[in-house]
Amino acid sequence: MKNKLVKNLLILFCLIGTIVGLEGPAIGGGSPGGMDGKAEGTPLWKKGEVLYRHYCVHCHGEEGDGDGLNSEFLDKEPAELSNKKFIQKKNNRQIFRVIKFGGVGVRKSHLMPVFGFTLSERQIWSLVAYVRKLADDDTNKVELPPEAEENRPTIQPVTILDRDRILDLYDDEKQRSALIQLGEHLFFKKKSCFACHSVDDEGGKVGPDLTRAGFLYNPEWLYIWVHDPQGVKPNTKMPNMGLNEKEATAIAFFLSILRGESEDPFEELGELKILLDGKGDVQKGEALFFDAEGKAGCSKCHAARGKGGSVGPNLSFVGSSRTSHFLLESILKPNSVVTVDFNSMAVLMKDGEAIKGIKKKENDEFLEIVDQEGSVKKIVKADIEKVEIEEESLMPTDFKDRLSDQEIRDVLAFLESLKIPLKEESTAGK
Ligand code: HEC
Ligand code: HEC
Ligand code: HEC
Repeated sequence: MKNKLVKNLLILFCLIGTIVGLEGPAIGGGSPGGMDGKAEGTPLWKKGEVLYRHYCVHCHGEEGDGDGLNSEFLDKEPAELSNKKFIQKKNNRQIFRVIKFGGVGVRKSHLMPVFGFTLSERQIWSLVAYVRKLADDDTNKVELPPEAEENRPTIQPVTILDRDRILDLYDDEKQRSALIQLGEHLFFKKKSCFACHSVDDEGGKVGPDLTRAGFLYNPEWLYIWVHDPQGVKPNTKMPNMGLNEKEATAIAFFLSILRGESEDPFEELGELKILLDGKGDVQKGEALFFDAEGKAGCSKCHAARGKGGSVGPNLSFVGSSRTSHFLLESILKPNSVVTVDFNSMAVLMKDGEAIKGIKKKENDEFLEIVDQEGSVKKIVKADIEKVEIEEESLMPTDFKDRLSDQEIRDVLAFLESLKIPLKEESTAGK
């Protein structure tokens, strides 16, 4: 039942999709690419529409009816933005404020996230214009105030010093347990995380399920990610929640204790866990990884160190972000966790042709799919009979047979060596 629901949800997710292509990780802040609302001559609401489809549609729905795919998982219904009476009662500044400061900032539900740390004031004004458009309300004309900021607030990058401070705190049992409590409160009640992420089958489904977050992500990574998601992945749909250092640390520590049902982190790995013992050779692992025609052939689908394919996720920072447990599981049991946005889909065309691959781009007319071999196909949507999202990963599942135990350890060691470069100290010189 649950699986079916998730499956249907995913199908729809993909169909609504976004016009924005998926991009691999990149370092540095800035506005999500191509969405800075600067193009001249476009009406303000048009710029807002692009942003709406990327950041709002999953809760508020295609037409603003409050029926986005994620809405059924929320305890508070997302506002019906297409309701003219409801929207007419609000002035432009009120709408601006709820988007910028989130529900919590205007004494409404915490399930409405804050966007003021992700979008510039200009972008938020374009969303106000689009909200009016959705409600078909032209009595309150939206003009861009001349003082509206063009850039989103600058987020300081995490430094090596920050990271070391967090790891020290993590080792201090007393401080850690106080922070974990705070983190739990922030996660469920205050910072919108629960609106998009589920834990133990409850909560939103926009981002990955975090029930086993403690097995999957390293604590330092959780901090780096929640502190500045756009700094890691500029086009991510996860907004920056504007957490201060203490809050981000607290949430990272809370997530790092989530283990799902199993007591033993390596239980699900069964006998495979012996592969985590013993040493791998980074250089040999690298050679296996980049030999596209070789028996591992990872780089046919994955990029790392600036080269490789884009069928699967970019693995450039995977040694910082993922635990060895997760990495081993990913190589040997790719279906146990399928990375967000990388579900494979089966497309049946009206002429009977069947295409399987991963969605790379989508707009109103076309769908771009990349197959296992890395070739991209552009499909006219009108010619599609049916789309189904597969539960299975497109990644091969037979590496246990293709590679020796030692070769698996070597590849693992190479993946673990792929770290996010952190700055020595803050560029702002604090
Ligand atoms: C994770 C789900 C979620 C996302 C994503 C989301 N919202 Fe909301 N939004 C809500 C919920 C829930 C409410 C209802 C809050 C309440 O009434 O307490 C709401 C309320 C609102 C309201 C009405 C506030 C009021 O004054 O009553 C506006 C306007 C709004 N959202 C705009 C947006 C825009 C624009 C975006 C995208 C930039 C967005 N929302 C993204 C969940 C979401
Ligand atoms: C509006 C929806 C939304 C909200 C709110 C949100 N997230 Fe996310 N989150 C996402 C999406 C979507 C992804 C997948 C990111 C991607 O790959 O682009 C994600 C990814 C993540 C990840 C995995 C990162 C990785 O390395 O793959 C973690 C951990 C996470 N979010 C934690 C949080 C926490 C903690 C909060 C609250 C402070 C939060 N999220 C709020 C949507 C959201
Ligand atoms: C035919 C393409 C293909 C090949 C070959 C392939 N992968 Fe993958 N890989 C994928 C896809 C697609 C995903 C995303 C779906 C999933 O999570 O299983 C993925 C996911 C992963 C992940 C999880 C990433 C994350 O952070 O969520 C890791 C790690 C990984 N692959 C490592 C490898 C390694 C190591 C090899 C070589 C031994 C390899 N892959 C070969 C397609 C491939």
